[in-house]
Amino acid sequence: MTNAYKISFQEHGDTRGMLVALEYGKECPFEIKRVYYVYNTKDDVRRGYHAHSDLEQILICVNGSCTIHVETKEGVEEVVLNTPTEGLFIGCNVWREMYDFSENAVLLVLASKLYDEDDYIRDYQKFMSIIKD
Ligand code: TYD
Repeated sequence: MTNAYKISFQEHGDTRGMLVALEYGKECPFEIKRVYYVYNTKDDVRRGYHAHSDLEQILICVNGSCTIHVETKEGVEEVVLNTPTEGLFIGCNVWREMYDFSENAVLLVLASKLYDEDDYIRDYQKFMSIIKD
């Protein structure tokens, strides 16, 4: 999908363990203004249920696993995130739902802008009308 795709990160590993570095202009196409993480997710939780008008994000399941449902005008995909060496880039006008969190899942999110409730599209019918334009 043009506006929602996986990115592979280089691992820097040695006998001490592993490390992944994310830099603007290299692994991350946008300047990072905000970071948040979702954890301690309860069984059968499904969250998200929104798109953004003007926000880019990279989702990384740095521990455990979860699945991201993404929808754009190109269709629907279910993306499994289960390694700290992969991220899911999500651009503007992409509906997302996160589910199937493992008990130990930590979903790290890098975002191109500060939190702004006005940027959320929470009404699915409104989202559908926007992507049809
Ligand atoms: P919410 O948008 O419901 O999370 P999700 O998209 O995963 O369903 O966010 C949960 C709460 O956290 C809500 O009260 C708003 C707050 N929040 C912030 O204060 N800053 C942020 O950057 C984010 C993403 C959420």
